[in-house]
Amino acid sequence: ADSTAVGGVLLREGLLYLSRNQGIQKAATRTPVGQKLARRFVAGETLDDALTAIRSVNAEGMTATLDELGENVRSYQEAGRTADSYCRALSTMAGEQLDSNLSIKLTQLGLDLGPDIARTLAAKVVSTAQSCSNFVRVDMEGSPYTAITLDIVREIFASTPCVGAVIQSYLYRSQDDVRDLNRLGMRVRLVKGAYLEPATVAFPQKTEVDDNYRHLAEMLLAEGVYPAFATHDEAMISFIRTRAAAMGRSNEEWEFQMLYGVRRDLQRSLVREGYRLRVYIPFGSHWYPYLMRRLAERPGNLLFFLGNVAREARSTPPSG
Ligand code: FDA
Repeated sequence: ADSTAVGGVLLREGLLYLSRNQGIQKAATRTPVGQKLARRFVAGETLDDALTAIRSVNAEGMTATLDELGENVRSYQEAGRTADSYCRALSTMAGEQLDSNLSIKLTQLGLDLGPDIARTLAAKVVSTAQSCSNFVRVDMEGSPYTAITLDIVREIFASTPCVGAVIQSYLYRSQDDVRDLNRLGMRVRLVKGAYLEPATVAFPQKTEVDDNYRHLAEMLLAEGVYPAFATHDEAMISFIRTRAAAMGRSNEEWEFQMLYGVRRDLQRSLVREGYRLRVYIPFGSHWYPYLMRRLAERPGNLLFFLGNVAREARSTPPSG
């Protein structure tokens, strides 16, 4: 069992390492098998594809959060275009009366070029959300961005409170961050964390990450404002259900969140049982890093991927 666990960790680290490799990104996004696998986790390339997916989850009694894929943009023009596109998505969703908020990434709004541009553009998106009576969740990226992301979200929140943060239970610092955000009254999405992190900043053992998830969930249920528990882990889900009931939190005071294409059976059964469930719906052509993080979370996904590559290779006649 130990060697399987070590193999799993190495596989996860390898995939997360590859998620940052530009060369492989270019190759993978061109292959039909990469595109096919991406469709399992991504609603499509266009906003229209995503709106169709939102309509269908809304019809099943679930809410949504829309994510236009992309991260680490390298130019001011690209960051500005992304902000405009987020604002258009907000107005389109309002026009169609869809039950969906927006998830954004600050590196997509130019954070690598400096905090000022990301802060300005994020504030613009959040004030558009406010005028549409909607809400923006700022996704949390790798640990080099944690402090600056929380600083920017707190600054925007002070004047425009329809914005929330994400806290990752694998980080040692998260207990302090949850305490601080609870004190401010900011909405928090709790996740385990999806990036490759060193043991200097993050718990190396999955059991520690899970223990901390439960601990932070308790803090959010006790003192948080409309917390969101984003997980597909049935042990975490049953813990949260039990603790929320014991602490007298009604089902309307918090929500579960899950990713598009992951555990739809569980999503539906929670809704049937009267829990709120929001589906994270990504769309766009920059799906490679997102897909690699999803593969790293579950080796079974990778086997499915490799099986397809092998089948495709067998059916493609050798060239030259
Ligand atoms: P865990 O990884 O322990 O998985 C538990 C079980 O869930 C698995 O055994 C499997 O059955 C199922 N499962 C999990 N992932 C799967 C997958 N990809 N495919 C198929 N089955 C899967 N992270 C981050 O760092 N910053 C962020 O902003 C966000 N935002 C975010 C929003 C939402 C709505 C969700 C659901 C998740 C995130 N994440 C995230 C990702 C998060 O950090 C984490 O990597 C994944 O949710 C997987 O962790 P679980 O809690 O599901 O548990």
